[in-house]
Amino acid sequence: MEVKPVKGTHDILGADIILYQRIEDALAKTAHTYGYLEFRTPIIEHTELFSRSVGDSSDIVRKEMYTFLDKGNRSLTLRPELTAGIIRTIVNNKLYASQDFPIKASYIGPAFRYERPQAGRFRQFSQFGVEAVGLDSHLIDVEVISLGYNALKSLNFIDITLKINTLGDDESRNNYREALRAYFSEHIKDMCSDCKERLKINPLRILDCKVEEDQKIIKQAPRIQDYLTSDSKERFSKTVNLLDSLKIKFDLDENLVRGLDYYSEVVFEYHYISRDGKSFGALGAGGHYSHLVEELGGPNLAGVGLSFGIERLAQVVENEKLLFDAFPFLAFYIMPIGDVNIEKVYELNEKIHRLGYPSEMAYESKSLKALFKKAEKRSALFAILIGDEELEKEVLTIKNLRTKEQTSVALADFDNVANNIVEEELVELNEER
Ligand code: HAM
Repeated sequence: MEVKPVKGTHDILGADIILYQRIEDALAKTAHTYGYLEFRTPIIEHTELFSRSVGDSSDIVRKEMYTFLDKGNRSLTLRPELTAGIIRTIVNNKLYASQDFPIKASYIGPAFRYERPQAGRFRQFSQFGVEAVGLDSHLIDVEVISLGYNALKSLNFIDITLKINTLGDDESRNNYREALRAYFSEHIKDMCSDCKERLKINPLRILDCKVEEDQKIIKQAPRIQDYLTSDSKERFSKTVNLLDSLKIKFDLDENLVRGLDYYSEVVFEYHYISRDGKSFGALGAGGHYSHLVEELGGPNLAGVGLSFGIERLAQVVENEKLLFDAFPFLAFYIMPIGDVNIEKVYELNEKIHRLGYPSEMAYESKSLKALFKKAEKRSALFAILIGDEELEKEVLTIKNLRTKEQTSVALADFDNVANNIVEEELVELNEER
């Protein structure tokens, strides 16, 4: 019997890999421009890492982790997110010892959550993210938000909705938690069983509830803004002012509390709604954390970070056709004509590879009809026809396979011409799509 993939997992093949790599490259490039270097940490970690960071009261730890005992009876977990592993390695390697702050790490790799699979929600998915550790300032918080914003811009996103909120410092959150506990205790008998559980462990989590009836009660709940200390208020107002001056548009969302326990002060999410009103859920999210480093055995250092879900980005980029060069194509398909010297044609193909254009050649001369068919199969933009006459005159005959226009180009000019025609053709194709 055929073996199927595990529910909630997916294979990514051939053409789609081009799209994923294009997205991953753009994200990595943006992170690099802000001085982040990549860290790679293991996919399996001790379960304790996540119960101490993501938090015992989070849905992720309570219900969604792939946890198992290994043959040595250790409780291990497939990471549900990458932040905890990054902070663990910063602590293990004492990267803070040089006092060179902020420590900046970027990362990419698979994460696992036992969630109900649906559009844009998988059990194995990939995250790309950054963490900046050791500087406790709104300046670095805003830098991370701006990095995420620019990463989306580099993927040609136009209408990004950035939702932000503050959870305040410890004192603000403690006061707020108590106010929520008092309020929800009055209403909990009419709420879902999950909320009953949440009230016991962390009433803040109730604000995440998606049950419609519960939403009505949640709308009337106390607001964090009324419980912020003056320090947290001031920090948040500096944050939004700086975003304003960077011309980064945002929506204040008082119900944004995030599903992981390690956050304090600013939290944020990037959303996207397509032109036809389709919502794709959060593409990425993050926030500030005051105690995570300490909770994982390090010194008292603050941090801030964000993660994007690569599958969700790929889905939007594909749906909205945001990137015109993220599909597999050949720039040139080279066609030897007649009994032309095949080694010379081969040299030309090598030259084109060295210039960085995807190209292939036919290794034997066939009927033109067969060659054009092959070029079409390979999604080639141009055919280069090359026979004895072309070799002798040192020219190439280049045929645009869409418009069927044919031009003759001196071999010496090929570098410049190739650059222009390939770029122009990709733009044209994109407009046609
Ligand atoms: P998160 O909101 O749990 O935050 O996940 C970040 C992003 O990962 C989401 O916005 C979404 O795009 C993607 N994602 C999450 N779950 C799934 C899923 N089941 N299927 C597909 N995509 C998914 C974090 O993980 C934090 N570590 C973010 C952070 C970094 N905070 C500080 N630093």
